[in-house]
Amino acid sequence: MTEQHDVVDIIRTKRDRGVLADEQIDWVVDAYTRGVVADEQMSALAMAILLNGMSRPEIARWTAAMIASGERMDFSTLGRPTSDKHSTGGVGDKITLPLAPLVAVFDVAVPQLSGRGLGHTGGTLDKLESVPGWRADLTNDEMLAQLDDVGAVICAAGAGLAPADKKLYALRDVTGTVEAIPLIASSIMSKKIAEGTGALVLDVKVGSGAFMKTREDATELARTMVDLGTDAGVTTVALLTDMSVPLGLTAGNALEVRESVEVLSGGGPQDVVDLTVALADEMTRAAGREVGADELRAALADGRAMDVWRRMISAQGGDPDAPLPTAAETETVTADADGYLERLDAMAVGVAAWRLGAGRALKEDPVQAGAGVELHARPGDRVTAGQPLMTLHTDTPERFERARAALDGGWTITGEAPPSSPVVLDRITAQEA
Ligand code: URA
Repeated sequence: MTEQHDVVDIIRTKRDRGVLADEQIDWVVDAYTRGVVADEQMSALAMAILLNGMSRPEIARWTAAMIASGERMDFSTLGRPTSDKHSTGGVGDKITLPLAPLVAVFDVAVPQLSGRGLGHTGGTLDKLESVPGWRADLTNDEMLAQLDDVGAVICAAGAGLAPADKKLYALRDVTGTVEAIPLIASSIMSKKIAEGTGALVLDVKVGSGAFMKTREDATELARTMVDLGTDAGVTTVALLTDMSVPLGLTAGNALEVRESVEVLSGGGPQDVVDLTVALADEMTRAAGREVGADELRAALADGRAMDVWRRMISAQGGDPDAPLPTAAETETVTADADGYLERLDAMAVGVAAWRLGAGRALKEDPVQAGAGVELHARPGDRVTAGQPLMTLHTDTPERFERARAALDGGWTITGEAPPSSPVVLDRITAQEA
């Protein structure tokens, strides 16, 4: 094939704050995927994009080029609407586990392609792999059959979906260019649009434990993704949600599955229940079903969502009745004063859980199913000196010391009760192009 574009011209255009032409974008994404554009050239372009940004049409074209690098799935034979959720990742974020079966109760199919965790945020597949027998890898036909039969599937994204993103994401990871909002938005949305969902709800996390540390950056990312989804014909809504504090009372794979099962049994921590219901409300509405929060809460309380969970786990080889793995060793962290827990930093807890073995440093690393942090108090709770604040879990006790170091300075106890803050901070919907 004759290569009709000069990659150095493309890099220079972005370096000098110019706008890339559609054909330049199509070519560079395709040529990089084919290995014609070298890693060092794509690194330079990614850095120029990080520094100088992209226009809305440029981001849309870049996303389309990444979608075109692979296959597109089609759920039109299902005979019911599809709705999916994507979270930008947080500490203790197990929401997908109760959410997918809950939404499926209302005849909305949930095709949830998920990933494994890297760094301080856990991956949904790592959590579910702590269920004995459960497998993440399904063929496209198995996925479609399960969606038809059970209505919900959580599985690994196949290699055929947006291969350009796989290659580019790995490059960004090692070149300091992960944080470019146009590249994050096109990376996430290329996979979601290629997956073929009809509706998409984005949970964009903001705060210390999130990718986006400020409300301004989170809003820009949410707006960019909502515009991309809308322009591609996917009904897309984003919620901005708080990630300054971990979600719920657990961070770690089996610990989070246990908490999710509590939510599916009608209990569980209030913030996990509230966010599950808020996202389910958006997902059902975006799919054209008016269910409402009361009915969604009822489906958690009366076992309808639990029935779908059990069928979903069994369909992928898991045993919903098998005991979940537990870590071999535990240690307790206690409060050092009387008062109110004022702050509990999500990043500190996420790094502690990671160091205990719940997460991985390299993508090939194994994770410990039972490792993690269990919280006994949340901001606003009254505590007394010596009371357990957290239990640390691991199979490898030499990890306790570094986990404790991560938690050092990660919470404060004060004399006055702190004001309570909502989990959902904002809602972002489509705007005119
Ligand atoms: N998740 C993705 O899939 N891509 C990014 O770029 C960042 C987070």
